[in-house]
Amino acid sequence: MSVKINKKYIHGQWSSRWAFILAATGSAVGLGNIWKFPYITGENGGGAFVLVYLFCIAAIGVPIMMAEVMLGRAARQSPINALTTLAKQAGASKLWRLLGWMGVTAGFLILSYYSVIAGWTLAYVFRSASGAFSLVTADGVRSMFTGLVSDPERLLAWHTIFMVMTVVIIARGVRGGLEQAVRVLMPALFVLLLVLVGYAMNTDYFMAGVRFMFTPDFSALSAAGVLTALGHAFFTLSLGMGAIMIYGSYLPKDASIAVTSVTICLADTMVALLAGLAIFPIVFANGLEPGAGPSLIFQTLPLAFGQMPGGIFFGTLFFVLLLLAAWTSAISLLEPAVAWMVENHNVDRIMAASFLGLLTWLLGIVTIMSFSDWAFSFNFLGSDEPKTSGMFDVLDILTANIMLPVGGMLIAIFAGRVMSEKMTKQELGIRAPGAYALWAFLIRYVSPVLVLIVLLGLFGFFGFVAKLFGI
Ligand code: TRP
Repeated sequence: MSVKINKKYIHGQWSSRWAFILAATGSAVGLGNIWKFPYITGENGGGAFVLVYLFCIAAIGVPIMMAEVMLGRAARQSPINALTTLAKQAGASKLWRLLGWMGVTAGFLILSYYSVIAGWTLAYVFRSASGAFSLVTADGVRSMFTGLVSDPERLLAWHTIFMVMTVVIIARGVRGGLEQAVRVLMPALFVLLLVLVGYAMNTDYFMAGVRFMFTPDFSALSAAGVLTALGHAFFTLSLGMGAIMIYGSYLPKDASIAVTSVTICLADTMVALLAGLAIFPIVFANGLEPGAGPSLIFQTLPLAFGQMPGGIFFGTLFFVLLLLAAWTSAISLLEPAVAWMVENHNVDRIMAASFLGLLTWLLGIVTIMSFSDWAFSFNFLGSDEPKTSGMFDVLDILTANIMLPVGGMLIAIFAGRVMSEKMTKQELGIRAPGAYALWAFLIRYVSPVLVLIVLLGLFGFFGFVAKLFGI
């Protein structure tokens, strides 16, 4: 009996198209936009990186988001089961199920470090509220940050709190509460970013920031940088692991997949660009290093909040909103795994969420230790300089730069080549003439081929071929 109720619960629907847009935007907008986008833009030299990233969003992100929503809605199941069912319907190999498994694994790995970074945000809520940023210097901010990340016990406490917050919401079911939360959160975050951009405009360095972000200098971009831009397009849109697929499985039949997908992608991109416009002028005004890495926003924003009028209020509010944005993203990272456990293993959501949350929490400890005792230096595939911090970088590159693009490429192949045209046409329900053909072209040729080229480039494939032919 309980199984029946659970299944019905899982396969319920969003109350409207807007509810889906809000939830999916909640998943997409997160630490990826405000924490990660600025620091990887800084590490990869600015303009050229941003251009490649924007191209990847438009040519690869939008069509693959449409494909994920479509697969979810067509099957109305968690990603692993959705792919199993759809592959059967299409008479394709059972192995497509493994794509669902890879997604669940990627979500679990990402959440393990995502939660640690969300923990930093939580720490900064309290620091800001206590007035610790008032008139602080660049050196002061730096030692504040180092003090936090080199203290595993404190990091563990914040990581634990964040994981508990996430598990509680997932256990209660992702619909309902999430809609209301995102409805308030997103506009508020947007306004606060505008406040920060307004502050940045008064620093004399605003144009330096704009130039850094929008003047492409391709000599500053390496092959590994191109892959980072591609991987980040997947990461920031929550694509390639089934998060958008499972949210799509709750989407009402009559909603337009194309319009909703484009709306979500636009909103997500706006937030990232605003974050960059807020942060880089502060970086240059204070003589900081744009390539500082994961600490970038934690070293720049406190300086701004420490100087602006009402900084304690704005600073605290900002980190609270960032925390909430990370929360609505974290939920979607675990939801495919939880839904699968409920569907296939006769457990309730509370059990499934607690069990998977505990596993994620344990793995998070690896990331925590990688910022202090377990830090090591390594040189990963094609990166120019060895990175020091160890497992955090390994997990980040493995998931964002490899698993998500590979997952996205396979999703594109599945939607564009395995499923029948009749089925995708009907499910997408695009009415505008030529629009379906454009989607089909992007999903069949552009997305999979571009992803493949970038991945092969990373593994040194082209150099190898060139050598083979003595070029
Ligand atoms: N998109 C989120 C961010 O930018 C992170 C995220 C949530 C995610 N769900 C995901 C990334 C699924 C990849 C896959 O912060």
